[in-house]
Amino acid sequence: MPITILIGAQWGDEGKGRVVDWLAAQADIVARYAGGDNAGHTVALDGEVYKLHLIPSGILHSNVVSIMGNGMVINPVNLVREIQALRRVGVEITPERLVISSRAHIITPAHVALDKANELALGDAKIGTTLRGIGPAYLDKTGRAGIRTGDMLLDVEEFAEGLIAAIELSNEDLRARALEPLDAQAAAQSYLEAADFLRPYIQDVSIYLYKALKAGKSVVCEGAQGTLLDIDHGSYPFVTSSSPTAGGALTGLGVGPLYVDRVLGVAKAFSTRVGGGPMPTELHGAIAEHFRGSGANFWDEFGTTTGRPRRCGWLDLVMLRYAVGVNGLSELMLTKMDILSGLDELKLATAYEIDGERHEYPPVTNEQLERAKPIYETMPGWREDISNCRSFGDLPAAAQAYIERVVELCDLPIDIVSVGPERDQLVMKTAAPATPVKLRNL
Ligand code: GDP
Ligand code: IMO
Ligand code: MG
Repeated sequence: MPITILIGAQWGDEGKGRVVDWLAAQADIVARYAGGDNAGHTVALDGEVYKLHLIPSGILHSNVVSIMGNGMVINPVNLVREIQALRRVGVEITPERLVISSRAHIITPAHVALDKANELALGDAKIGTTLRGIGPAYLDKTGRAGIRTGDMLLDVEEFAEGLIAAIELSNEDLRARALEPLDAQAAAQSYLEAADFLRPYIQDVSIYLYKALKAGKSVVCEGAQGTLLDIDHGSYPFVTSSSPTAGGALTGLGVGPLYVDRVLGVAKAFSTRVGGGPMPTELHGAIAEHFRGSGANFWDEFGTTTGRPRRCGWLDLVMLRYAVGVNGLSELMLTKMDILSGLDELKLATAYEIDGERHEYPPVTNEQLERAKPIYETMPGWREDISNCRSFGDLPAAAQAYIERVVELCDLPIDIVSVGPERDQLVMKTAAPATPVKLRNL
């Protein structure tokens, strides 16, 4: 497996972190390629719960190199905090184990302030961002006004000057909106300390990966966010500002498409979304509460990064089919199947009805999407606790039928489903589910 790309097939929080952790056991390198600390990836391991925001989920495997790609936007102060928090619980992090691209963009304190200001100005029409400065940082990147991680390799004064100039530029924006500007000197100080810490970790990731791939190493690209939050392919403007889809892995790391032999989509067995924007199968009431949980368990549907309750609904096959196409998925994996236990019946949205017409794929405009009425197919539920099942045959017949129906509706294999958050809580359909669907001769 030269490159496996793993992407979220819904609106994020599909369980990517736990799947990457599982894939990492067979990989040499795990690489994040998009987003920043808006992501929150949870890995549960022997009773310990790790919540990763910037560092790839492969870090928990001692023989894996973790890479942060050029497609990411990085808040260096938060990254240092994350490294230190992981070290405190015994995770070894060295420049040999963590490589940061010199071409990733830096999130400044001004980006964070602007993110908040933008959301405030939008009022009821707000995106519902994670307030981590993601949008403003990508705006500066594409506007060619950003500062990059590689700039931390400059001499300290030069980096400080660039940083202060960037913050002052954003301050003009804040002043224009009658908001308090930042003290650029003070804000820069903590970044200079972070730069000192991070300097040994920074290098050219694209060349690093090229050499590794040439040497036969295997790479798992860890998607953040999800297909329906993609800047191009999501329900714009209710999206993030990067490309979480499969294409983003290539540009976000600087690797070529011919090395990719597997594109694995992860979807929850139901739908969740956090933040604003259309969600045709959203539910309110008892079933939504069942999916969300009370918040007492770490896996309940409350944001890993922001703690916000996630919106919940039935599995939406229209959106999933779209994700299959946009990413060219080779297979799908379903997570949180255990949460479906205890419901009398389950619904799958197989199509939408809009103005009397049936749609198998999402409509073109958000306005139509807001009016879309899901067409449901009802399936029997099951009562049994399935969290101890480990093979497909152990699952109740109704659970097997649910998975098989998703396979039919998406026209993709599902060989693995998860039935609990722990590393080993996986149900395998076949003895060797990880076989690549196609392997090219390179
Ligand atoms: P990510 O952003 O895609 O990595 O997902 P998050 O970590 O934000 O959210 C997924 C949540 O579901 C986490 O709390 C996981 O521990 C949890 N989780 C993942 N798979 C399963 C599963 O099969 N069953 C249960 N109950 N929880 C799961
Ligand atoms: P992981 O990687 C779920 C959502 C936000 C908001 C929109 C824009 O854990 O799946 P942003 O701060 O990126 O400008 O917010 O995107 N969002 C996520 N939702 N999981 C995530 O990451 C998300 N990252 C961003 O809620 O709707
Ligand atoms: Mg998450």
